Amino acid sequence: MTEKTLVILKPDCMEKKLAGTVLARFEAADLEVKACKMIRMTDPVLREHYAHLIDKPFFGFLSNYMKRNPVIVLVLEGENAIATTRKILGPTKSADAPAGTIRGDFGDKEIVTFNICHASDSPESATAEISRFFKPEEVF
Ligand code: TYD
Repeated sequence: MTEKTLVILKPDCMEKKLAGTVLARFEAADLEVKACKMIRMTDPVLREHYAHLIDKPFFGFLSNYMKRNPVIVLVLEGENAIATTRKILGPTKSADAPAGTIRGDFGDKEIVTFNICHASDSPESATAEISRFFKPEEVF
């Protein structure tokens, strides 16, 4: 099934100059870029994007990190794009992520927050997240 998913190259990805490396891994898995923009995250967008985490003690730390430098937001399309993207990315905690995954290779093993990249985790969140960041005419 062809799907679209939302990917965010987070501030640590940009700071480590890994945008090209990370995108190349997704492209190598036959995922295609359908939309792309560079933005700086804001509190209202982060409160929406991480609504499920708003009551967690680390929410403030997560928000500050997500705002500290601009990010690249992407829509990727391909066969089972949502599961494929999450598999290439690896689990949330980089310390638990196997070598060969993006988080396993590049994420911070001590600070969970600094895990390089976001990818939608379900068809429902992919739809909501794509429309959070892109107008319909911006997705090609
Ligand atoms: P979550 O939606 O649980 O994971 P994922 O990004 O893999 O879908 O969490 C969102 C982000 O919150 C996660 O990428 C990193 C951050 N986070 C922390 O900073 N500390 C934590 O303990 C957890 C679980 C997540």
